[in-house]
Amino acid sequence: MLTDKVAIITGAGHPMGIGRAIAARLAGEGALVVLTDIEAARDGLLEGCQTLQADGVRARHFVMDVTVPDQVSSVLKSVAKQLGRIDILVNNAGIGGGSSQLMEIQREDFQRTLDVNLMGTFNCCQKVIPYLLSNPADNNQRGSVVNIASLCGLGAIADIPIAYTASKFAVVGLTKAMALEYADKGIRFNAVCPGAVNTSMREQLFTRIAEEQGISPQQAQALEDETIALGRGAEPAEIAASVAYLAGPSASYVTGLAMPVAGGMAAGL
Ligand SMILES: NC(=O)c1ccc[n+]([C@@H]2O[C@H](COP(=O)([O-])OP(=O)(O)OC[C@H]3O[C@@H](n4cnc5c(N)ncnc54)[C@H](O)[C@@H]3O)[C@@H](O)[C@H]2O)c1
Repeated sequence: MLTDKVAIITGAGHPMGIGRAIAARLAGEGALVVLTDIEAARDGLLEGCQTLQADGVRARHFVMDVTVPDQVSSVLKSVAKQLGRIDILVNNAGIGGGSSQLMEIQREDFQRTLDVNLMGTFNCCQKVIPYLLSNPADNNQRGSVVNIASLCGLGAIADIPIAYTASKFAVVGLTKAMALEYADKGIRFNAVCPGAVNTSMREQLFTRIAEEQGISPQQAQALEDETIALGRGAEPAEIAASVAYLAGPSASYVTGLAMPVAGGMAAGL
């Protein structure tokens, strides 16, 4: 259980996204959840927060672009002031932009993908550390960070944007380096590596593959589903369950893990 823990989730504005499911799951375990996302997702943030509150959940929402360090600082400061502490950070914000081919990808798309997926995760981790360190130790634990990487952070998979793969490998590396540095200070860092998850990001992937290969999005999905042992993409709640495990006390001896949650999909090259 995560009773009375304060958890911040980035990229939690999209109604069908993994972030929203994570917020609901952590709240279901007793956490006070803070949903954050970019300005363009403000309506989704508000709606998500109100839906949780209607279910009796203690939820807040803030606009926070993870690529803007000052904005991250100011939101974390407000959260700590309003809610008294921060215990859990889930770095879920991500984009999948650009081509899967080296000679096709635009430099700006590559840079933007690194800015959001890697630097955004770095910004939030660096800014949250003082708050986690200031928590009193509970069974030697002061806080937990879960980064949403990808199966593409463990191996290169065909048709996935190359910048996305590079960024998620970097998120896994960052997670492990931070886990090592903060293990004896009571802060655990782990990564969840989803395979295919049924969100708008997956729909966009099929739209692009369909255009590139002259097939329908449904055919593109069927082709990918065939590569998954369980024969289907995950629902966001199935990813959220692993986040709740890694964030909570059941995983007190787990740090530096990059955990595939991929239905038996192969991790690629
Ligand atoms: N859907 C999949 O198949 C899949 C597979 C593996 C990993 N993932 C990862 O899961 C995470 C969530 O993805 P999703 O599938 O729910 O997609 P999604 O597009 O629904 O969610 C991503 C969220 O990140 C937000 N975001 C984008 N840029 C941001 C920024 N600069 N600052 C803050 N928020 C920002 C978006 O507004 C959006 O709400 C991502 O990190 C993604 O890479 C998804």
